Amino acid sequence: MAKKTVTKSKAVKVTSSAKVSNAQASMAKQLANVLSDTYVLAVKTHGYHWNVVGMSFAPLHAFFGEQYASLTAAADEIAERIRALGMMPDGSMESFLQNTVITEAGTKALTAEGMLADLLASHELVRERLVEAENMADDIDDLATQDLMVKQLGEHEKTMWMIRSHITK
Ligand SMILES: [Fe+2]
Repeated sequence: MAKKTVTKSKAVKVTSSAKVSNAQASMAKQLANVLSDTYVLAVKTHGYHWNVVGMSFAPLHAFFGEQYASLTAAADEIAERIRALGMMPDGSMESFLQNTVITEAGTKALTAEGMLADLLASHELVRERLVEAENMADDIDDLATQDLMVKQLGEHEKTMWMIRSHITK
């Protein structure tokens, strides 16, 4: 059977073997956005793990390291959910950067406080996209995706609490 494309998104492709409904394709496209946000935030957090300086270096180096690892694991789960929906996630940085709402860290050195404030804002943006994806999953009765989105919302909200707890001003 010839490959068929049901979406113009660069972030997901239809597999040749699976029959994919329009609802599943739309869900996978939304998940590709969340995947992009999660991966770009993981890369940014990893960079802050390397580059944080100051008296709080040791705890923040460890804190950012833990967050980087859990974001990477979350990206893996989201990508595998796209596969379970019969679509193929595009694993390229090009597509992640095209689909994300997260701004990369850039080359300007930030203070530890600046990193924490930036990560807090980034997690809020991912949280908003997760809510959109959760709503879509609810609308189409995709319980497994809905469960994953709710789990991720909890993770981001917990991380945001921990980041806010570092910010004393
Ligand atoms: Fe490290």
